[in-house]
Parts: sequence; C-alpha cells; structure tokens
Amino acid sequence: MILVAGASGMLGGELLAIYNGTTRGVCRKEMEITSFASVQKVLLTLKPAVVINAMAFTDVDGCESRQEQAFMVNGEGVRHLAELTGEIGAKLVQISSDYVFDGTKGSPYLEEDPVNPLSIYGRSKLTGEENARLNPDHLIIRTQWLYGLNGRNFVETMLSLANEKNELNIVNDQTGSPTWTADLVQAIRRLIEKDCRGTYHAVNSGYCTWFDFAGAIFAEQGIKMGLRPITSEELARPAARPLFSVLDCSKLLRDTGLNMDGWRNTLKKYLNERDK
Ligand SMILES: NC(=O)c1ccc[n+]([C@@H]2O[C@H](COP(=O)([O-])OP(=O)(O)OC[C@H]3O[C@@H](n4cnc5c(N)ncnc54)[C@H](OP(=O)(O)O)[C@@H]3O)[C@@H](O)[C@H]2O)c1
Repeated sequence: MILVAGASGMLGGELLAIYNGTTRGVCRKEMEITSFASVQKVLLTLKPAVVINAMAFTDVDGCESRQEQAFMVNGEGVRHLAELTGEIGAKLVQISSDYVFDGTKGSPYLEEDPVNPLSIYGRSKLTGEENARLNPDHLIIRTQWLYGLNGRNFVETMLSLANEKNELNIVNDQTGSPTWTADLVQAIRRLIEKDCRGTYHAVNSGYCTWFDFAGAIFAEQGIKMGLRPITSEELARPAARPLFSVLDCSKLLRDTGLNMDGWRNTLKKYLNERDK
C-alpha cells in the first residue's frame, strides 16, 4: 500500500485523486510529522510499502519568521519518516523544491549541481533532503511553481484578482517552470513503478517568468488585464527567491521514458479541467 502524507494539501489531494483507491491518505490530524511518536504509530500500524511525503510548511515568507517550525516540519519531520520507513523496509518519496538552488547557474539545474538555498524555506527543504537519505530506499523529487485543483496557487490567485482589479504588478525577474500537480503525480507514479532511487527533477517543460505566466493565464481565459512587470526588489518579500531555478528533467526522461508536457499546453489542460 502507498501512504500519502499530507492528504489535505494541494499535491496530496491530487495524489489521492489520481491513484484512486490504491493509496491511503493521512493528514495532520492523524499524523503530526513533527512528533516521532505520532509518525511511528501510523507507520507501524499501516505498514505501507511506500510513503509519499507531501506534508510541508510551504509558506515561503512565513518560514522566515517561524524558522523553528520550518525546520521541525520540513527537516526533522522527514527524519522521522526516513528512520521509520527504513525500519519497516518501506520506500520514502520526499517532495522537494527548486529553492534548494540559488538561481545563479544561468542554465537549467541538474540533480547533482551544487545547492545553495537563499531562504529559510529552502534551507529547511534541503535539510529534509539530507534526512530523507537516511533511508537508503529514498526518492527525492524536486519540483517547482505548482498549481492544481486542491489548493491556493498562482493561477487561482490571478483568476480571483481578476474579479477585483483591472491592473496588476507582476514579478518579471524570476524564471521557472509552472507545473500542474496532475502531471507531477504521473512523474511520481512512473518513478515509483520503475523503483527509481536517488534524486530527480520533475517539472513541466519550458520556462517563463511569473509575468509571462500571468499573461498566459489571462489570455487563455479571455480576460483583459493590465499587467506591469516589476522586479523582486520592488515586491520586497521577506524571503529571497532564486532568479533562474529551472530544473533539467533529462534524468527523469532517461530512467522512466516520461517527457513532461510543455507548461503552456498544460496550463490550457488545467483550465479546461477546472472549468468543467
Ligand atoms: N506549491 C509549490 O509551488 C511547491 C513548489 C516546490 C515544491 N513544493 C513541495 O511540494 C510538496 C507539496 O506542496 P503543496 O503545495 O501541496 O503544499 P500544501 O498545499 O501547503 O500542503 C502541505 C500539507 O502539509 C501539511 N502539514 C503542514 N504542517 C504539518 C505538520 N506539522 N504535520 C503534518 N502535516 C503538516 C498541511 O496540513 P494542514 O493543511 O493541516 O496544515 C498540508 O496538508 C511540499 O513538500 C512542498 O515543499 C511545492
């Protein structure tokens, strides 16, 4: 059985929906990841063959002022899972982030490229990666710029702002690959089916800035919106973000045969799905 930790989250909800029946989901009420005893109780009772960890403290700016909580959930919590999955002989699939990189490489990041997180969130996710490796049967999947049906995300924020405003300032100096959780789940599934181990990147192909992404969302929906490009400095968020953290997915293609769809086409599919 596959256990999805974080069933109430955006990716966790998608994992449960797509795997449909073959997974068991747990949310924070049943398993508090920061408590070893709580994780132990769930894993020793359910004895899953695979645990996919989609639990995380994902408020990137909030992590800056709640460092202890960030490291407890994103770091220590993963250590609990790694130790206990190791004990019961289960595989640990840890979802990680492009924010482990500093974004200065200037070309898409390979799995083995040096990490250098710029924020507390990135540092805590990196600690999570290090801890996941305590179980030799680990699979770390780095992804980025997620959107999906089950959670707050950039696409939904843009569409709800369209009801309130006719002009928006959008950051135009951060580049990444918008990724639909449904496509990410297919990659996770393939990596598990092939019993892959180690670190992989999984994002929709191609890349853009947040400004380009916003433009595409409004264009697809036929919404007239004035967009003004701004810099990260102008936005002045508490956490620094990498400027170019595009992830190279050729290892995913080589080991699973999966070539993830382009972000623009995927956005179209998501909007159709959402509007059904
Ligand atoms: N969203 C993105 O753009 C993005 C990009 C790169 C990587 N990722 C990674 O992808 C994964 C899934 O992200 P997501 O966007 O689906 O996150 P999400 O919607 O914020 O969901 C996170 C889940 O973690 C749970 N959680 C938080 N603290 C917990 C705790 N102490 N104990 C147990 N559960 C706890 C939350 O439960 P409550 O709802 O009860 O708080 C929620 O179910 C994360 O590892 C994230 O770092 C996300």
